[in-house]
Amino acid sequence: MFNGSSCLVLLLAPMEGVGDRCFRRAMASVGGFDQACTEFLRVPGNAHIPSLSKHYQFDETYPIPQAAQIMGSEPALMAQMAQALEARGAPRIDLNCGCPSNTVTGKGAGSSLLKTPERLHEIARAMVRAVSIPVSLKMRSGFSDTSLFRENLLAAQESGIAFLTLHPRTKEDGYGPPAKWELIAEAKSTLSIPIIGNGDIVTAQDAYRMLQETRCDGLMIGRGAVTNPWIFHEIRKEPERKTFDSLERFYQIFIQDFSEEIPMKTRINKLKQIASFQFRKNESLLALRSSVLTASYSSEEDFLAKTLPLLRTHYFAESP
Ligand SMILES: Cc1cc2nc3c(=O)[nH]c(=O)nc-3n(C[C@H](O)[C@H](O)[C@H](O)COP(=O)(O)O)c2cc1C
Repeated sequence: MFNGSSCLVLLLAPMEGVGDRCFRRAMASVGGFDQACTEFLRVPGNAHIPSLSKHYQFDETYPIPQAAQIMGSEPALMAQMAQALEARGAPRIDLNCGCPSNTVTGKGAGSSLLKTPERLHEIARAMVRAVSIPVSLKMRSGFSDTSLFRENLLAAQESGIAFLTLHPRTKEDGYGPPAKWELIAEAKSTLSIPIIGNGDIVTAQDAYRMLQETRCDGLMIGRGAVTNPWIFHEIRKEPERKTFDSLERFYQIFIQDFSEEIPMKTRINKLKQIASFQFRKNESLLALRSSVLTASYSSEEDFLAKTLPLLRTHYFAESP
């Protein structure tokens, strides 16, 4: 990805729950980003690697490559998992050092790796040694505070990873206070590997500001892409890609993979989850949001028949 060309690297963030396979496929139909990434695949101490790795499909977002993110605390198992994912066609493996969930951190994985830079190094190093594809690492700025920030950055770089993504909030911050972009600038000036900046980019202007303020090498966007799937095109100055047809296709592809086995209520809730982001886009949509989210729908088609006309009228009414 970082081949010395001047092209800006744009990545779709991993988002467990919201950014599932259906969403990533829908996002791939919109395009504009260089790589997608799965939500974290948890590698517990008793993991059976061959069955666990089958959850990963490299071509879900074709033609956009899709990396696999893994989360765990056992270097040998994480290395085995990385190998299994490489064999399944992964173009890159990402190590999760950011998940704030207590069920995860209680087991020494996710953001709790930020409490022990040497452990973080050990796991990343084992993964790097196990595969020939790039290994990257996605981290928060710390666990309860940023006292080990520099140590974690250096531990990550010394493991041999290809690049680092920084979401500059601590685990304690959760998603609440504004992301501290100045820490992205600090990571950039501390390390020599490429740094991907992440956190609170919701418009193309935010993206340009992050690039200018931090000098980071690329951007990763999560929630901003759910609200505005064309944000990557807007950053690339391709606003003509943002059309109602493209939005309609986004939703058609989103529902295409819904399994008949999933209860209808769950399928409607998945649609409502995406719509809950998109109906925050502007004042007119915000005014309609609660009625859309509380209404009952008989099927996905019923939801789309009632909701898409509202988006057609109000979503494109103003620029972000
Ligand atoms: C619902 C949700 C699920 C997330 N799941 C993951 C995950 O599986 N792995 C990960 O590294 N980060 C995860 N994140 C964090 C995002 O990748 C990203 O770092 C964070 O949302 C900040 O970026 P944003 O402001 O562009 O959304 C998740 C965030 C949200 C909101």
